[in-house]
Amino acid sequence: MAPTENWVDIGSAQELARTPLRSGKAGNIPIAISFKDGQFGVLSNACNHVGGPLGDGRLDHDYITCPWHGWKFHRATGVGEPGFEQDRVPAFPVKVESGRVLVNVAAPSRRMKTPHAPHPLARNVERAPGPLRLAGISTTVMDVGNPRFSGSDHLLEHAIKAAGELGAQTRLIRLNDLKFRACEGYYSKAAQACTWPCSITQMDAGDELDRVYEALVHWADAVIVASPIRWGTASSLYFKMVERMNCIQNQITIHNRMLIRNKVAGFIIVGGQDNVQMVAGQMLGFFAELGFIFPQFPYVAHSRGWSHEDMENNVAIVRSSQELAEGAQMLAKRLLDLAGQLIARDEAPAHIERGGRKAHPV
Ligand code: FES
Repeated sequence: MAPTENWVDIGSAQELARTPLRSGKAGNIPIAISFKDGQFGVLSNACNHVGGPLGDGRLDHDYITCPWHGWKFHRATGVGEPGFEQDRVPAFPVKVESGRVLVNVAAPSRRMKTPHAPHPLARNVERAPGPLRLAGISTTVMDVGNPRFSGSDHLLEHAIKAAGELGAQTRLIRLNDLKFRACEGYYSKAAQACTWPCSITQMDAGDELDRVYEALVHWADAVIVASPIRWGTASSLYFKMVERMNCIQNQITIHNRMLIRNKVAGFIIVGGQDNVQMVAGQMLGFFAELGFIFPQFPYVAHSRGWSHEDMENNVAIVRSSQELAEGAQMLAKRLLDLAGQLIARDEAPAHIERGGRKAHPV
């Protein structure tokens, strides 16, 4: 029979009582040590969710709040907060003797995990049979009560219409219509804290970026992202969206799991002044990291250059330009042609060798 007592000295009671919550070790076991109302509590340091370090969290009355996504466990018993009592992290017996804190590492309580219903986005990524599918994403910020003409939206509509005429299913998402939070930097806490589906999506049912994830990861074969140029770069909504897509790229980095396979992307970039290539470069770099493939000439763009401050003329040119409209239509065709070939050949890698890409072990 395994021994039921193995008391390990984890330090001076006076010293450990100075901090309400900290991470530590009992021998080589990572623990969360709390001190409140004259009593110590010791739990396993690994959160039930995806292993967040509980001792780096904070105390909310008698509950430890995990620093990664806020799950709570009673600091002495390890039992989940009210409503989640079947979720338990191991709690260790603890005592103070001769000014030293001792933990019985031989008798932790059992870890229990209640099955949590997976988020719908967490399902396997499998292309559903059917015609090719093209999603257009508008990143234009707009006062919907007083709409104005947007050159990039105008060309995106041409592209989507052309895709429909080529037999593809189409979907247009205007980020301006969605309520979604900016990335809150879960990746900055730890790579593992940035989850798929996005941590915010899983925690906040009111966050509407799930529609973009659904379209890009599960539904579309081809994607066109349209952006105006703002101070030489893509729109603020574009960046708000792509920061939240770190969770897609991160699946490759930490799990070698490709969520995006056999999909293509293209871009529409319109600005009164210049910097088309810089905006395109950022978009190409980011969407390549996600796993998208590009056709030759992966974007259509328009800008009249640095010395043209006359935006009314710019708007008039984009609105009436047959050439730009045809450019957007042909972009849709190039994307669908390539997507069709990729799907037919199904040669995109399911895994990527680590060498030469981000997150190579150092
Ligand atoms: S809440 Fe603890 S790891 Fe997510």
